[in-house]
Amino acid sequence: MTPDLNSLLNTESFQAVAQSRLSKMAFDYYRSGAWGEWTLQANMDAWKKIRLLPRALVDVSQRNSASDLLGMHMAFPLLIAPTAMQCMADPEGEVATARAAAQAGVPMVLSSLSTRSLEDVVSAANANANANANANANASMVMQIYISSDRGFTKALAQRAQAAGCKALMVTVDTPVWGVRERDIHNSFCVPHGMSIVNLQRPSQPTGHSGSGMGQALGWTIDASLTWKDLDLIRQSVNIPIMVKGILRADDAGRAFDQGASAVVVSNHGGRQLDGAAPTAEALPAIARAVADRGPIIVDGGIRRGVDIVRALAMGASAVQVGRPILWGLAAGGQAGVERVLHILAHEFDLALALSGCPNVKAVTADLICRQA
Ligand SMILES: Cc1cc2nc3c(=O)[nH]c(=O)nc-3n(C[C@H](O)[C@H](O)[C@H](O)COP(=O)(O)O)c2cc1C
Repeated sequence: MTPDLNSLLNTESFQAVAQSRLSKMAFDYYRSGAWGEWTLQANMDAWKKIRLLPRALVDVSQRNSASDLLGMHMAFPLLIAPTAMQCMADPEGEVATARAAAQAGVPMVLSSLSTRSLEDVVSAANANANANANANANASMVMQIYISSDRGFTKALAQRAQAAGCKALMVTVDTPVWGVRERDIHNSFCVPHGMSIVNLQRPSQPTGHSGSGMGQALGWTIDASLTWKDLDLIRQSVNIPIMVKGILRADDAGRAFDQGASAVVVSNHGGRQLDGAAPTAEALPAIARAVADRGPIIVDGGIRRGVDIVRALAMGASAVQVGRPILWGLAAGGQAGVERVLHILAHEFDLALALSGCPNVKAVTADLICRQA
């Protein structure tokens, strides 16, 4: 039975409902972090430590949450982070998420490990945005890419994404090898029957996998020998903007822009790669100091409330990404569940703007952060 979505007031309540509706294997796959899950937890804790100093007596009766990112309109400064295998949460999988994103007017980043083809997902988003009377409806799809050991395949995938109408590519660079998620090993994680990693099908390659979540069958989709010069391959293959995801250091952020990136994503992969990596809220300030004038900075990891978006913007980000809460929405109620999660975050963000004395996104500046003496 579908739960009453309107009775769910925050993203945490969605997690509890998702847990009750998903198999243990699927829920653990979505919620897990690597090894002891320290970074997973620290991501969420770190935002809570950022205290705000709201401005008093500012006229916030007319507010505008909208902003732009590399030519993409955002009803509020959030993108749906790329997360793999969404058909485990809902039969429509990534198509349902894309429709909800278009409805809410936020960009969706499609994982290259999706269970629906990128062409199906992009056309579902476009159809929904066109059919929609909501002024915010807008379909901006971004394709996430791993540079695989099969460079020809990677180039072709990037070009397929551009041809399908993706507005940008997001190249993930924090996966020289897959992080180890012990829950997946305990559960002998495998892609459920009837599903496959459709975008990565090669004639010679099975796409099912088992064991630690990303076993041997998907080993070829990443490459431990990658270096900065390999970003050229992607840059030269397409003429849409490239974002580099998985940056935690100011020097790497600078290198990404040197290599032609149009944006960087401060991310530790939601705590799924190096356990012990800094929480993103702690990594963000140095990166913002180093490269804020070179292009947009997006941050993800542990964003669970609209006020976390205010915190991130005050610390120098242009937008945030959200991963797991979207999966919880999808599991709780398919497209309607994702729409409800996005509505909650948008509404919380709007109120957090008002309560901080900010009529719009531009008014969120560094002085909102309390720096203890
Ligand atoms: C189940 C799951 C699958 C993910 N799959 C991908 C992926 O295919 N590509 C990628 O770049 N990041 C992937 N990520 C990382 C997310 O894009 C994002 O960095 C992270 O989820 C943000 O943290 P949050 O879940 O706390 O919001 C995945 C994360 C989760 C939880």
